[in-house]
Amino acid sequence: MSLLEKIKTDRLPSHIAIIMDGNGRWARQRGMDRIFGHQQGVNALREIIEAAAELSIKYLTVYAFSTENWGRPDEEVSALMGIMVQSLNKETGTLMKNNIRLKAIGDTDRLAEDVRSRLMETINLTAGATGLNLIVAMSYSSRWEITEAAKKLASDIVEGKTVPDNITDHDFEKYLTTRGIPDPDLMIRTSGELRISNFLLWQIAYAELYFTEKLWPDFSKEEFYKAIIDFQKRERRFGKTSEQLLEK
Ligand code: IPE
Ligand code: IPE
Ligand code: MG
Repeated sequence: MSLLEKIKTDRLPSHIAIIMDGNGRWARQRGMDRIFGHQQGVNALREIIEAAAELSIKYLTVYAFSTENWGRPDEEVSALMGIMVQSLNKETGTLMKNNIRLKAIGDTDRLAEDVRSRLMETINLTAGATGLNLIVAMSYSSRWEITEAAKKLASDIVEGKTVPDNITDHDFEKYLTTRGIPDPDLMIRTSGELRISNFLLWQIAYAELYFTEKLWPDFSKEEFYKAIIDFQKRERRFGKTSEQLLEK
């Protein structure tokens, strides 16, 4: 039985988030420049988007560039931005053909004009797609997002649109960049690091976490299937007891 056949199609995660880590180490292990690892990382991403679409997963969120990644050497930052533009130039047609809708979360105002406009163009071109929602986190970090949300909420209070006593966590969620997107059910991190690195801290409150030693350029469809199979073996209790889950 292949790994794909082991996936139960009635228990698929509707939202998978991925911290695509390990490009630099993958390249270094081959005596190559880190940038080469980032280029290979794009191929892995293409495979995983295809796998997610084939499985009819509704939402796939990928961490492409964090707020903290702005602190990397200038050459690496500009190479990553170049790869982003190149990939969008090359793949926008494929996204449209496959009914995939692109969305971005993060502080896109910090992006250079060419990167931002290319990203916005693809977002607009795919806005009518009804298949996979591909959400790319670009210049994103959770603390940035939560701080921005708190600022907007504070100004709504100042303007008299709401009062502090009425605010629930559901209200707060509407101020996040992920407004309207269900929380991730499964979060995957590659490269063996056991941390979240400022990604979707609010949204992963009840996500199942999956860590693998595989470096991102080596993360294949089969590895993706393994993560989903592992997810399907878990009991998600959301604070309840196992017995309560059986009662329904
Ligand atoms: C992930 O790979 C890609 C980005 C953070 C942009 P890294 O570049 O972090 O690779 P490692 O972790 O140094 O191996
Ligand atoms: C997280 O990876 C960010 C992305 C994958 C885009 P990092 O490589 O930047 O995270 P740390 O520094 O290992 O925590
Ligand atoms: Mg890394």
